Amino acid sequence: MSAPLRIALAGLGTVGVGVIRLLAANRDLVTTRAGRPLEIVSVSARDRTLDRGVDLSGYAWEDDMTVMAARDDVDVVVELVGGSDGPALTLARNAIAANKHFVTANKAMIAHHGLALADASEANGTALKFEAAVAGGIPVVKGLREGAAANAIEQIYGILNGTANYILSTMEASGADFATTLKDAQQLGYAEADPTFDIEGVDAAHKLAILAAISFGAKVDFDAVACEGISRVRAADIAQADALGYVIRLIGMADVAESPSGAPALLQQVKPCLVPKGHPLAHVTGATNAVVAEGNFSGRLLFQGAGAGDGPTASAVVADLIDIARGEAGSPFSVPTGELVAMEPAESGERTGQTYLRFTVTDRPGVLAEITAAMRDADVSIESLIQQGRANDGGEVLVAMVTHDGPERCVESAIELLSGSESLTAPPLVMKILEE
Ligand SMILES: NC(=O)c1ccc[n+]([C@@H]2O[C@H](COP(=O)([O-])OP(=O)(O)OC[C@H]3O[C@@H](n4cnc5c(N)ncnc54)[C@H](OP(=O)(O)O)[C@@H]3O)[C@@H](O)[C@H]2O)c1
Repeated sequence: MSAPLRIALAGLGTVGVGVIRLLAANRDLVTTRAGRPLEIVSVSARDRTLDRGVDLSGYAWEDDMTVMAARDDVDVVVELVGGSDGPALTLARNAIAANKHFVTANKAMIAHHGLALADASEANGTALKFEAAVAGGIPVVKGLREGAAANAIEQIYGILNGTANYILSTMEASGADFATTLKDAQQLGYAEADPTFDIEGVDAAHKLAILAAISFGAKVDFDAVACEGISRVRAADIAQADALGYVIRLIGMADVAESPSGAPALLQQVKPCLVPKGHPLAHVTGATNAVVAEGNFSGRLLFQGAGAGDGPTASAVVADLIDIARGEAGSPFSVPTGELVAMEPAESGERTGQTYLRFTVTDRPGVLAEITAAMRDADVSIESLIQQGRANDGGEVLVAMVTHDGPERCVESAIELLSGSESLTAPPLVMKILEE
């Protein structure tokens, strides 16, 4: 048996403690599969006195996690703290500079700094691995980098945030509105006290930017992700979608379109979408995550599982450690960083398809005619239009419509035409309809 892989573990919260528990429970099988023992030698967190329910007495404690990288008795640094910058980033830089392998579950840091970190680790010949950063326990990074490596990925999309999915699928089951469902989710521990990153799509955007880079050989470009959350989705939208044969899901989606110059351009967006009830993603409920990759030879691949939680996330972290113990590092984003292409961001208008639009309007004569005229002038063909009866809240009514297949650019033009309208009491909610 070879020498142990010696680990410094920064962060002893949900995931960090999960890693300690997994390594204890599965010690023998992990050792056999890794070909050598995985041994934690040093740990760090903020509060040394906290009882974390695991025995830390065998590990050296570091008050300042950023110095762990300098320890001579460490081969790999595992960062399970979080935050795109600050101490987590300092630790990452220090670890790589000190020729240590580096494993993290930190999607925010990889989305913002992954490229620079990958460059540095590649130059040093060390591993940078982040399976747990994308969709928790689902081995989608490995699935794309290895299992689907022979394919050109045509599109990658999925449900990348468990909190948002829990809220939408709970609204679907209960008929309750967004605010009530969010409050319940917070009480049940499915949503954080500050849920902004989850419900506004930022967390999903971090993961999408990473997936897009791996799938399309593109430089990670988080700032190019068009991001819209679920806070404007109403119970009425969910009921309307249901009547039309759809469910609503927050979908992160990336594909490559042609830019006006003819060069490939990367389209990345996180938005609530209508998903046909027959589509595999329509059956993904609760806090589950799922990723669909359309490979040009494999066809549709579906990765589904727990996107968070101590056990699933620890499973992904330890899988990365096993790879490192085996000497299987590989390029973090599938190809050497010098091969990654800086793709132009594509306009979402380049896409075609069906769209759901919901207008909140003042209940007065001529409003429907105004909306349909804007659609006609923008060359949008309407498949169905539903006005939902009078509301009791001061004359606001909802008008929902589904368009025929067509360029999303035309829908954007119609919205633009209506932007000054006094009949609209709020900006329309526009949702792409996924194909079956
Ligand atoms: N939770 C999940 O299911 C999940 C899933 C996928 C990815 N992730 C990612 O995994 C990472 C960790 O998440 P988590 O849920 O385990 O977080 P968590 O429960 O909040 O734990 C964070 C840990 O970091 C420690 N910490 C914070 N600031 C520190 C500092 N300056 N120096 C040293 N230690 C510090 C905390 O110490 P104290 O305990 O002493 O306060 C705590 O032990 C994040 O990047 C997150 O996005 C989490």
